[in-house]
Amino acid sequence: MSLLEVENLTKSFSSGRDWLGRRTKMVHAVKGVSFTLERGECLAVVGESGAGKSTVGRMVLRLIEPNSGSVTFDGIDVLATKPKQLRALRQRMQMIFQDPYSSLDPRMTIKDAVAEPLLVHTDKGRVTREKEAVELLDKVGIGSRYLERYPAELSGGQLQRVAIARALTMKPSLIVCDEPVAALDVSVRAQVLNLLRDLQEELGLAYLFVCHDLALVEVIADRVMVMASGEVVETDTTDQIFANPRQEYTKKLLAAIPVPLPRDAQGNRLVAPGKVG
Ligand SMILES: Nc1ncnc2c1ncn2[C@@H]1O[C@H](COP(=O)(O)OP(=O)(O)OP(=O)(O)O)[C@@H](O)[C@H]1O
Ligand SMILES: [Mg+2]
Repeated sequence: MSLLEVENLTKSFSSGRDWLGRRTKMVHAVKGVSFTLERGECLAVVGESGAGKSTVGRMVLRLIEPNSGSVTFDGIDVLATKPKQLRALRQRMQMIFQDPYSSLDPRMTIKDAVAEPLLVHTDKGRVTREKEAVELLDKVGIGSRYLERYPAELSGGQLQRVAIARALTMKPSLIVCDEPVAALDVSVRAQVLNLLRDLQEELGLAYLFVCHDLALVEVIADRVMVMASGEVVETDTTDQIFANPRQEYTKKLLAAIPVPLPRDAQGNRLVAPGKVG
């Protein structure tokens, strides 16, 4: 059994209103999307803006309710779970967003932000909660001098590390990453991406990795699902997508990559080669 099985997901949004204020036009954001994700695997979802990537990611966690289709996580029918079950389930599948600042409470210290899920979802005492939070922050490269600081005092890269630590607090097996490095300075993108990959390996995490930048996808993803206009164009191993793209659309996406991989001034890859292949 796969960790995640998604079948025939469909979502339409109504947008715009007529002169009576009635919602009119329908946007068919996602049309019959199916895929599976294994434990410890990274599946990248790529495609142009508006392809429906984020909508798919959010429907997996049921942050957006699909019109039809099914999502099965670890054998559990996600779309049929009751609110209480869903809250518990969402601890096992987490999400990291593009903008780390908006995903953290500005009035909460870094340490409290990472410890909070333990307060809400477990009966662990304060000392244990703080100890686990400090360990997690250390694991993502946030040192002890930042523990009592607030989000506004940290850089974007540091905040994304904190958001990653917070996502790990409840030991999830799946993290949906929606453009996790797109908002960061180019200089720190590779560092955060490497962190995500190291954590994946160490903790056996599965990622649904939404990303429009194919250069990043090549170093982190085991498989790639290409989407256009709400539909899956093709899904294949990362090696196959880059070496032998079958669809014209995928070829166009590949041709649009300005440089094949992020490199430093000496021409070395800024990110270590992928474990695939
Ligand atoms: N809440 C919403 N209400 C109305 N339309 C929406 C809503 N969310 C998404 N859409 C529309 O659905 C389509 C798919 O959006 P989605 O955000 O999933 O695309 P995306 O592939 O993530 O794009 P991007 O790369 O720009 O993030 C777009 O046409 C978008 O405008
Ligand atoms: Mg998006």
